[in-house]
Amino acid sequence: MTQKEINQAVAILRAGGLVAIPTETVYGLGADASNEAAVKRIFQAKERPYSHPLIVHIANPAQLTDWAREISPSAWKLANAFWPGPLTLILKKQPHVLDVVTGGQDTVGVRIPAHPIAQAVLTAFGGGVAAPSANKFTHVSPTTAAAVQEELNDKVDLILDGGDCTVGLESTILDMTGATPVILRPGMITAQAISDVLGMPVAESFTESNNLRVPGMHHVHYAPSTPTVLVDTSQLSTYLQSLPPTAFPLALITHSQMEHPSSQSIHRVQLSNQASRYAHDLYHTLRSLDHAEWKSIVVESVPETEEWKAIRDRLNKASQNRRGILKD
Ligand code: TXA
Ligand code: MG
Repeated sequence: MTQKEINQAVAILRAGGLVAIPTETVYGLGADASNEAAVKRIFQAKERPYSHPLIVHIANPAQLTDWAREISPSAWKLANAFWPGPLTLILKKQPHVLDVVTGGQDTVGVRIPAHPIAQAVLTAFGGGVAAPSANKFTHVSPTTAAAVQEELNDKVDLILDGGDCTVGLESTILDMTGATPVILRPGMITAQAISDVLGMPVAESFTESNNLRVPGMHHVHYAPSTPTVLVDTSQLSTYLQSLPPTAFPLALITHSQMEHPSSQSIHRVQLSNQASRYAHDLYHTLRSLDHAEWKSIVVESVPETEEWKAIRDRLNKASQNRRGILKD
């Protein structure tokens, strides 16, 4: 990345344009957070409802008070411990923060990303950059510049190519406005890691999964667009054997070294059994499988442990909680 491209990005942001910026989590679709018309362009490009607020990205902790107020010592502790990094803090907003950024709420989400290109752009820009993930609403977040191109194409003025995102899943979102910190979206910074820094328990406010059991494979307009089904490791072989011929060819994402009925009509993608590596590869894998004509994407369920929680959350969403469960 040249200084020229960074300067170009900053000029576009100042002029109210949109720049796709690599972060360590996923690529963001950035606009000047203080420019209402520019922020509105984000929603149009993503086809995202205005009710979903945006995260404001800043370059350094000294800028936090420009956007947020009533920042508790605990919030500062977390900022020091995890920034720059994949943690978004929800705090009371400063009065000037635009309703279009906060969804009309009295709070704002703020994050300092770690990617050197994001850092360079934010530092040179000097203000806050509102940036959701750089994908169409409900699609899989992009973790490469090519994926941004595929999602937003001519809707973005510049795409900065920062290579693969190292984390690969969106940031942990933590509400710091109440007495107890509450995780609103799990990420690779876990509740345990946060609670270790604060020395107090952290609550969670998202549903892990429901018990919806839908073995059928309906096409739904969600990402990936190929029907995606989660199957427990112990049931995977039986599940695959139980499918009718019309269910093939299909793609199978695994992480354990299990054997499965090998067949030309099952395209197996083996991901890491380490959570951080798996997270790094997941969105890219789903996106590339979605390009092929698989009848479905069958995903081996991941461990029920803390370090896999964010991955479980995204897999539940990608599969819309469809679980290939044979019997109760
Ligand atoms: O890793 C990330 O967080 C990436 C990169 C680009 O930073 N961004 C991202 O943005 O995932 P987005 O817009 O796709 O997801 C942001 C989430 C939304 O679900 C939104 O509802 C929530 O953050 N959010 C933003 N501001 C909020 C607020 N004031 N209160 C509660 N939730 C908020
Ligand atoms: Mg998103």
